Amino acid sequence: MNYLKCIECGKEYPNTEVLYTCECGGLLDVIYDYSRIDFTLDDLKGIPLSVWKYRKLLPFEGEATSLQEGGTPLYKCDRLAKKIGIKELYVKHEGMNPTGSFKDRGMTGGVTKALELGMKTLACASTGNTAAAISTYSAKAGVPAVILLPEGKVALGKLGQALIHGAKVISIKGNFDDALRLVKQLCYEEGFYLLNSLNPYRLEGQKTIAFEMVEQMNMRVPDRVLVPMGNAGNITAIHKGFKEFMKVGITEKVPKMIGIQPEGVCPIVKAFRAGTDEIIPEKNPETIATAIRIGNPVNAKKALRAISESEGMAESVTDEEIIEAQKELAQLEGIGVEPASATSIAGLKKLVKNGIIGTDETITCITTGHLLKDPEEVISVSSKSIVVDAAVEDIRRVLYK
Ligand code: F0G
Repeated sequence: MNYLKCIECGKEYPNTEVLYTCECGGLLDVIYDYSRIDFTLDDLKGIPLSVWKYRKLLPFEGEATSLQEGGTPLYKCDRLAKKIGIKELYVKHEGMNPTGSFKDRGMTGGVTKALELGMKTLACASTGNTAAAISTYSAKAGVPAVILLPEGKVALGKLGQALIHGAKVISIKGNFDDALRLVKQLCYEEGFYLLNSLNPYRLEGQKTIAFEMVEQMNMRVPDRVLVPMGNAGNITAIHKGFKEFMKVGITEKVPKMIGIQPEGVCPIVKAFRAGTDEIIPEKNPETIATAIRIGNPVNAKKALRAISESEGMAESVTDEEIIEAQKELAQLEGIGVEPASATSIAGLKKLVKNGIIGTDETITCITTGHLLKDPEEVISVSSKSIVVDAAVEDIRRVLYK
């Protein structure tokens, strides 16, 4: 049994209602009676990692709309750890999901819920990855999808994915925050099912990142988990996953949750520094990490609670630091990520340098999206290929120059 509960006023709603926020405007959370969930170590043994492995801890009843999401690698990054100066570093590469980002974990659950509720059209606003995921999963489910994008600010790979799978893609002359406001209105007025992370069921799928991480670390929990933040749903979801594994008796602690935003748009970092949970929306967000170019993060209140409950923090990094981290991860560890994902590594470097993260700590960084999502950015920050005549002496000349 599970139900929805407002994080502000505590009002409860049945899980059969199509609802994204409380009457009071507060965010909703999916609540379970953990004393009635029989989940033990035996539920983990001998089953490959995937979102649906943890079905007993998920609120979905119907047949899953699945493309085998989850089961992403947790890489131990010794060379990068040495360079940064910490004992133990892991990277959980969510870019290895079916559409190349963590959004698939939320979308498999969200679309399964949409079908349970009998919804006929799916919808979202997106900086790109949610669009790629909704289009793909709507194709798998055979249900149409409508996507609103900020015109000219969506990375090429993501746009291609959104288009090929058959969703109706509409680019608006505005930013992501405008697109989200408009799609919410359309969902209420047209009866579309909203699959942005405002929808609490999206986050339920994403919390499996924490479950998998614990299993991949042989039932250990890292000291800190660093997460890129945009709308800040993912950091909230991962924190919830760690709390639930503790509640059912699998683990004994929750890591400190560290959220990272780009300096060009970091409203949650500013609220954290000011010691408030009131966000001041940023009107002109700008960063190379277009995935998290979000000035008015809808899950800010949940994220700030996850950060303070876990004694974590929020930090910002510059675009230069993001590019440097992206290249180091690519060249020292062979892990290719898009710019937004590299914020977690850039944040780690900054916090170690400033003495906030100790050199003896065990850290996991989440990398949220694959390198191939944003090929234009990659080419623009990489050195150019060398053009020569098709002759071996010309090749030798540039090899030993
Ligand atoms: N990293 C990537 C690659 C993303 O695409 C996003 C969000 C985030 C991090 C931030 O996650 O919003 O849960 O804090 N992308 C959304 C989208 C907004 O439309 O694809 P968050």
